[in-house]
Amino acid sequence: MSHLVFDAPRVAEAYDAARPEYPAALYDALSELSGTALDGALVVDVGAGTGISSRGLMERGARVVAADLAGHMLAYFSGASVLADGNVLPFRDGSADLVTYAQAWHWLDPKSSIDEAMRVARHAVAGWWNSVDTAKADWLAECQVRLSGVPGYTGPEGRDLPAIARAMAEAGLDVHDRWVHWTRHVAIETFLTNLRSHSYMARLDPARADELIERERTEVLRVFPGGDLVVPMRVYLAVGRKGPAE
Ligand SMILES: C[S@@+](CC[C@H](N)C(=O)[O-])C[C@H]1O[C@@H](n2cnc3c(N)ncnc32)[C@H](O)[C@@H]1O
Repeated sequence: MSHLVFDAPRVAEAYDAARPEYPAALYDALSELSGTALDGALVVDVGAGTGISSRGLMERGARVVAADLAGHMLAYFSGASVLADGNVLPFRDGSADLVTYAQAWHWLDPKSSIDEAMRVARHAVAGWWNSVDTAKADWLAECQVRLSGVPGYTGPEGRDLPAIARAMAEAGLDVHDRWVHWTRHVAIETFLTNLRSHSYMARLDPARADELIERERTEVLRVFPGGDLVVPMRVYLAVGRKGPAE
């Protein structure tokens, strides 16, 4: 599937408005597993999109350069950014402390992306993915079953997450990974907009997408009649260290 699905005003707007942020514990784990304090670190955030991960890193004191191929996504980010392919980064060897992929590595070439990240990063390469935790709520599991008929839908995580850990290990990195659990409190409209921002929904005929969204609204409101949802979430984080942090 092409990443170009994100480079459209409607998708970028839905993405920025409704995709979940990452919990504080994720950034703590990134710092711990990479052996790198985020405060003052120079980070290249590849597949930065609208800047959800880049802003999270900056809030913790990192200096971030956001890199993405989708101009419509990067337009939502007001910090330093570059239109660039993560498989061929326009940065000098060892010019960053960390290279990160938040919710993004699965769009890149599994080998050349890691080779490039290792060339640019002095300390570590890291990838993470937020997903709903279907094991913690029956209503979420039922939601996933309903979505399973949508072409391109590949489950709550959307992909074989530890693949990044394997790719890092094969490239010679010292890999550490962790699941971080958290809870998202979110209004029904944001939950549904988030659903719309996924690539499998963005590719549907708009009338079919509207129909699916309305079906989800009806089903989810049965569980949360007031429209305030409590969503169990989890983040998978993999960090590949180049060696002892300086
Ligand atoms: C799901 S979004 C993740 C955005 C953000 N990091 C976040 O945490 O929400 C994935 C992003 O990866 C970008 N992308 C896909 N392939 C890419 C590539 N080869 N180089 C750079 N960015 C790419 C897409 O344009 C999209 O903005």
